Amino acid sequence: MKAERKRANPSHVRASSSAKGSVSHLSLGASLDNRKSFEPIRQGSRQRRLKHGGDSTKGDDRLKHEIERRKVGQLTIQENKIEFHNLVLESEVMQEKLRHLTRQLISAQEDERREISRELHDGAVQKLVSINIELSALRAETPEGAPILKAGIARIQKMVSKSVKSLHRFARDLRPAILDDLGLIPALYEYSKGLAARKKIKIQLTAFDGVEALVNAKRTVMFRVAQEALTNIARHAYATKVGLSIIKIPGAIRMEISDNGKSFHVGNALLAKNPKRLGLIGMKERVEMIGGRLTIESAPGKGTTVRADIPLDQSDRGTK
Ligand SMILES: Nc1ncnc2c1ncn2[C@@H]1O[C@H](COP(=O)(O)OP(=O)(O)OP(=O)(O)O)[C@@H](O)[C@H]1O
Ligand SMILES: [Mg+2]
Repeated sequence: MKAERKRANPSHVRASSSAKGSVSHLSLGASLDNRKSFEPIRQGSRQRRLKHGGDSTKGDDRLKHEIERRKVGQLTIQENKIEFHNLVLESEVMQEKLRHLTRQLISAQEDERREISRELHDGAVQKLVSINIELSALRAETPEGAPILKAGIARIQKMVSKSVKSLHRFARDLRPAILDDLGLIPALYEYSKGLAARKKIKIQLTAFDGVEALVNAKRTVMFRVAQEALTNIARHAYATKVGLSIIKIPGAIRMEISDNGKSFHVGNALLAKNPKRLGLIGMKERVEMIGGRLTIESAPGKGTTVRADIPLDQSDRGTK
């Protein structure tokens, strides 16, 4: 039986005979687990052996050389694998560092925003308001016989009022004082009201008032997520109706912002290599920074829903 099989498979015969001549060849071949690729060499050396009437020195040299070459190749592969593994580790560490820096940047930015907003509000805006009061007094004291002067003062007053308005808006967009002074729900209400009036969309706000017991950092994140989601709706969605809801779910607070506008491909938008588009990524980063989860769903005919689940913990007493 065995003899028959050998005859039927000449390559097996060759392999057996060369195995007798070179043990190291076989053991190396096995350790490389690459016997198939040795086949042509065996064939080549066998042919040469036949040609030179059994003188195998040259063939063996070539074989040794080939084995060495492959050993080196194997080592290089091994080294590359290690290098690849190290690079992956390094890039993971860098990504973690980058995430840490981004988070530091976000919280530093939030502190600065609060400070600039306060400064604008308490400094520049208050000064302009008192200038306007002085101008009113000056106008009242100006005799009727000086209409040009009176009109001039009125014009300046209008300009000052305009500046007060835009500074107010700027300060509010930076960080609404109402968020620190009155809380998240009044801040969201004010923001939605302004946006609804400017963009002519209906915004319905429903909120679980226990949300105010969340620590400041979490309420700030919720405000920023709502602000970005609403701004996106106003800029991209062409929606007519928007719902903003805050509810309590087991172990967390859930905020949802839904619109009935045009949909978009969320994956593409998140992966898009446009360094200027940071809204969605920023939202996600902020929510994850406080241990939460952000999901965005968008489907044709159904609009978009941005959902932020903010976990509750010991620091949020009063919300459980
Ligand atoms: N509610 C939405 N409806 C329709 N498209 C949206 C909505 N929200 C986001 N998009 C799409 O996703 C893209 C990415 O949004 P993202 O907020 O990241 O960037 P952006 O709004 O273009 O710029 P910015 O960095 O100023 O926020 C938008 O350009 C828009 O095409
Ligand atoms: Mg945006």
